[in-house]
Amino acid sequence: MSKGTGIENLQHETRRFPPSAEFIAQAIAKPELYQQAQTDRLDFWANQARELYWHKPFTKTLDYSNAPFATWFEDGELNVSYNTLDRHVLAGRGERIAIYFEGENGDTRTYTYAELLAEVKKTANAFASLGLVSGDRVAIYMPMVPEAVIAMLATVRLGAIHSVIFGGFSAESLRNRINDAEAELIITADGGYRKGKVSALKPAVDEALADDSCPSVKNVVVLKRGGNQVGWVQGRDHWWSDVVDSASSEHEAESFGAEHPLFILYTSGTTGKPKGILHTSGGYLTQAVFTHKNVFDVHPEKDVYWCTADVGWITGHTYVVYGPLANGVSQVIYEGTPDSPDWGRWWQIIEKYKVSIFYTAPTAIRTFMKLGREIPDKSDLTSLRVLGSVGEPINPEAWIWYRDVIGGNSCPIVDTWWQTETGAIMISPLPGITSTKPGSAQVALPGISIGIVDEEGKKVTSGGGYLTINEPWPSMLRGIWGDPERFQKTYWSQYPGLYFAGDGARIDDDGDVWILGRVDDVMNVSGHRLSTAEIESALVSHPFVAEAAVVGATDETTGQAIVAFVILRADQVAAAGSDSDVSKLLRDHVAKEIGPIAKPRQIMVVSELPKTRSGKIMRRLLRDVAEDRPIGDVTTLADTTVMDVITGKLAAGATD
Ligand code: PRX
Repeated sequence: MSKGTGIENLQHETRRFPPSAEFIAQAIAKPELYQQAQTDRLDFWANQARELYWHKPFTKTLDYSNAPFATWFEDGELNVSYNTLDRHVLAGRGERIAIYFEGENGDTRTYTYAELLAEVKKTANAFASLGLVSGDRVAIYMPMVPEAVIAMLATVRLGAIHSVIFGGFSAESLRNRINDAEAELIITADGGYRKGKVSALKPAVDEALADDSCPSVKNVVVLKRGGNQVGWVQGRDHWWSDVVDSASSEHEAESFGAEHPLFILYTSGTTGKPKGILHTSGGYLTQAVFTHKNVFDVHPEKDVYWCTADVGWITGHTYVVYGPLANGVSQVIYEGTPDSPDWGRWWQIIEKYKVSIFYTAPTAIRTFMKLGREIPDKSDLTSLRVLGSVGEPINPEAWIWYRDVIGGNSCPIVDTWWQTETGAIMISPLPGITSTKPGSAQVALPGISIGIVDEEGKKVTSGGGYLTINEPWPSMLRGIWGDPERFQKTYWSQYPGLYFAGDGARIDDDGDVWILGRVDDVMNVSGHRLSTAEIESALVSHPFVAEAAVVGATDETTGQAIVAFVILRADQVAAAGSDSDVSKLLRDHVAKEIGPIAKPRQIMVVSELPKTRSGKIMRRLLRDVAEDRPIGDVTTLADTTVMDVITGKLAAGATD
């Protein structure tokens, strides 16, 4: 069940890192939080929600009468953009830096809260002048620049709904998401800097919209960033500077109901089609603010915070845009990749801006660990005081390295478990309270009720099982865009009354939780979620391919890596050429269909796939091949010799 993350063997970890007395003395989160939440969970969340600015205060906390559909703070009204910006300016914090922007090419810019508010107001006016109104959908396909954040906040200021699409997705993926959300407005750029080059974004938008294939789209706003030549459709396309620069910087934020949709974010599930996860306003912001402040021990008046996630992922939504800005902290936004111009870049940024709170993914930590401590050791990292990890299990070795080399052996590490669907952190230590344990996400946050159950849904108090969430939480997804049935079936049907997260987990003798990784057909590659079915369907869409099976094989650096097995169509074998030619061609094909992030590490051309008598592909056996392990039990195969054929062919290929 663990898919070989290796963590299952390490639950007897004995190392503990209690917070220092100095840290405890200044910590935001106090142990009473757990007690308060235990005594009255709903009252606890209502108190957290009152930390926000409500245009109209709520009187009801939770309505779960139509379970699993929940509403939180339903009769309250607020404006999320107002909470992230206007509020600070009105309280006299307008001169505080909101964003330190570091472009990959060396450009830098800073925005105070007052400046960011002025930009968001202008942008909201510009979007409104293009006809955008409350409830409309806006697709944002941008590099990691401040305008991406501005576009998100301007959208929600008007009550419109954004759907950010990561720049690493292809035109085809973009088209599917635009059409599913029926977006009217697209915000993009002529390019952004990545790995020392300008990566093009506008051509993908043009390709996605070609031949009227996205009929809902009326306007495209294009930011000048990379200086690329771009195609232009008169009337549809507008330069950002043309529409925003001349717009008024006066804009009063209207209030919207707490359950007003805030954003849709597409994520991979177990089927071929990504799901549009819907989040709404009041509950989402409540949990974003609470978790950001308490998990990272944010002291907005003095901390400099940096989360390395792109706004194309949920981490970028909650812990770059909504949580940090609503909490009024100063943060770094970096456009590019960690290796540009060299692997010292991140650590130089930490030194330059005196970053005190740093949040990243285990893949990055493992990559740096392999490169050696000499690189981070060149920079002064003594400003750091809290380190976070997210997106995939962190192995104890990487955890210790992170603490020792990056955190100077003194920073608490918070290993935060959550998902696009949960909207905000659910399981994590609280620095200043929890004695941390390498490799374990440890405990549910105050106000969150989780469980680990067995196959039958019975509670497991020690050992392994499936991770569930037992009670609704404020930032829970409100549904799947346009598909309420799928929401119920995907998350709530396995164990009645419980939310099934799709992860395996173990609970150790101290009651600490260890996340073991996905137990469904979702892969986690470098902390990015990808579905096996989606990649299989991209592969079979190529005329050479008759059948395909994809597995996530354990990878030392990226957690999992995509390995595909394909059977070629008999009449195409000659045209396909050598196995290595066809493998290259199909990898490129997947990149075109889904995006470069979905490119398989390896494609193996085989003549058979292992199937049960009912025709189900036995991925477990393919994973054995991909991980170069002895093949497991084959007795349930319809044809037990098939694995010999596969391994025989691959072995022959290896010696060719
Ligand atoms: O498998 C879990 C893993 O990432 C999945 C959620 O992916 P996504 O919706 O893209 O959100 C990622 C960022 C929140 C989960 O089902 N995951 C996330 N955090 C952790 C984790 N696995 C282990 N430890 C974590 N801290």
